[in-house]
Amino acid sequence: MALEVLISEERILARIGELGREISTDYAGKTVHLICVLKGAYTFLADLGRRIEVPVTVDFLAVSSYGKGTSTSGEVQLTKDLDLSLEGKEVIVVEDIADTGLTLNYLLSLLRSRRPASLKVAAFLSKPSRRQMDVPVDYVGFEVPDRFVVGYGLDYDQRYRNLPYIAALD
Ligand code: IMP
Ligand code: MG
Repeated sequence: MALEVLISEERILARIGELGREISTDYAGKTVHLICVLKGAYTFLADLGRRIEVPVTVDFLAVSSYGKGTSTSGEVQLTKDLDLSLEGKEVIVVEDIADTGLTLNYLLSLLRSRRPASLKVAAFLSKPSRRQMDVPVDYVGFEVPDRFVVGYGLDYDQRYRNLPYIAALD
């Protein structure tokens, strides 16, 4: 399979610096509770968290995803729940990519029911042309075309997560 680099490591780190500054300004005087959507968002969480200058806490959840293919089953399932309560917290859901929006739509209604003080979304990538659900994405790293992408946490059949850049897989 052929990989074509779409977003270099250098551009990624520069953009994450910008997002970190934006979030630090938006949450001045507060503590941000980052929720990592496993597995794809682990790299983004690690880099973004280190660029946020207000106090940060983190927690992790996992949802079922694509399995082996490159198209969604349309069904979302929580496979690992959070350890900590969200009540009264300033929550940002950190996701690898907003594709159809089904995952984020499911997560937002689940997490809203746990009464956070606020609830926002940071998605490293967005494929706006694929959106089926109108989900609010407050912080976006990059918009990408409708191609299957890997690297920087995103996988194909569990591979390529460790690539430091984003590549299209053909
Ligand atoms: P959704 O379609 O917005 O619900 O996206 C569900 C999940 O599919 C994302 O969180 C990713 O884990 C995965 N996904 C969507 N598009 C891609 C892609 O291009 N490469 C790798 N994973 C993807
Ligand atoms: Mg994911």
